[in-house]
Amino acid sequence: MAVDIILGLQWGDEGKGKIVDVLSPRYEIIARFQGGPNAGHTLEIGDTKHVLHQVPSGIFHEEKTNVIGNGVVLDPVVFKKEIDDLSALGVDAVPRIIVSNKASLILPTHKLIDKAQEAKKGDKKIGSTLRGIGPAYQDKYGRASLRVGDILSSDFEERLKTIVQHHEVVIKNLGGETGELSTLIPEFRESCDFLKRFRIEPTELFLNKALDEGRSVLAEGAQGSLLDIDFGSYPFVTSSNTLSSGACSGLGVSPRRISSVIGIFKAYATRVGSGPFPSELFDETGKKIAEKGHEFGATTGRPRRVGWLDLKALKYSCMLNGVTELFMMKVDVLEGFDSLHILKNYPDAALDGNAVAGNREGFDYVELEGWNESLNPTDPTSISGGLEAYKSYIETHVGIPIKLISYGPQRTESLWVED
Ligand code: IMP
Repeated sequence: MAVDIILGLQWGDEGKGKIVDVLSPRYEIIARFQGGPNAGHTLEIGDTKHVLHQVPSGIFHEEKTNVIGNGVVLDPVVFKKEIDDLSALGVDAVPRIIVSNKASLILPTHKLIDKAQEAKKGDKKIGSTLRGIGPAYQDKYGRASLRVGDILSSDFEERLKTIVQHHEVVIKNLGGETGELSTLIPEFRESCDFLKRFRIEPTELFLNKALDEGRSVLAEGAQGSLLDIDFGSYPFVTSSNTLSSGACSGLGVSPRRISSVIGIFKAYATRVGSGPFPSELFDETGKKIAEKGHEFGATTGRPRRVGWLDLKALKYSCMLNGVTELFMMKVDVLEGFDSLHILKNYPDAALDGNAVAGNREGFDYVELEGWNESLNPTDPTSISGGLEAYKSYIETHVGIPIKLISYGPQRTESLWVED
């Protein structure tokens, strides 16, 4: 069996949580391969809205195995809270999750370093979620991390002490505060103990064996392609490889195992945090889209920046990921506009972040008719008029079919164009 990958093609917040939940019945295993609690995958099931940060979005389906892969940075404190919240909803997550022994741990000191680093940057700050992601990956690539498997070893306490002492010096040098650590470290220890209730093992072995036995795997990306550490608008990026290639290294599966790469994108664009955003809107239309789309960060609650769909960026993401099919999200938000714009092209430097701020010279927009048609989930022919034109414009220019259109947060508000 093969691995299918689902990932976001923009700056995150494309609606991955909902789609993974919709697709989960088709797979036996759902696996997260990068990122950590900076993610906020929102699922609305009936009247309940739930935001997952580290737990894979297949968790609401009984009989599915959810894997937290080696590429993830795991905060045990946030993880415990997520599991407790699931338990309050009647979901016993313990038998449904396997955690890689090789996933790096986010320590409370990583969060304080994140905060101090951002504060020091002043108006050049990245706009980090302050969940300790950057510092945790710094330690991983500096070969200094504590990993999930280490919590089972007898020298864990000693190693924790040494790292915390080192981090305290770093925090103080950055001008940050360490006072909170007297409560944060005991809470971290307790959460590591809690983590021991889960299967902790080399998940690369589990996954490859499962694939050999014919079981299907959906790899769930976090953040978005344009926040990738290498190909995003550096330094305004996250600290992991968010692309399809990250699924191989973040799960320990070979590229030969990958089948479909499902790329999901919003019918417009949003970005949270700092960094270049070529199609950003600063007018009433932008405000209207933000309000209709409830564009506030699922993890931080920060308002998201809003813009028109950026076709050049979308094509770039499709190229980097080898996308085989597209899912278009939140088309309901664009309903009711007389006309819509798509940013077709602009100088390369604008996507890299090297363009002079506010300079829109060479930006080529196309204007398309809006739509008012409501969609019928069982009838692909209900995609008509302006929406049909909008969809085919994207398909023609990107060269990849749109197979699903999502028009609301509920599982049922999804129209399969072709299945
Ligand atoms: P970090 O990953 O918390 O260090 O944040 C780095 C940048 O990525 C900031 O601009 C964040 O707003 C953005 N970011 C991180 N995670 C997400 C996400 O899940 N959705 C959208 N933006 C994110």
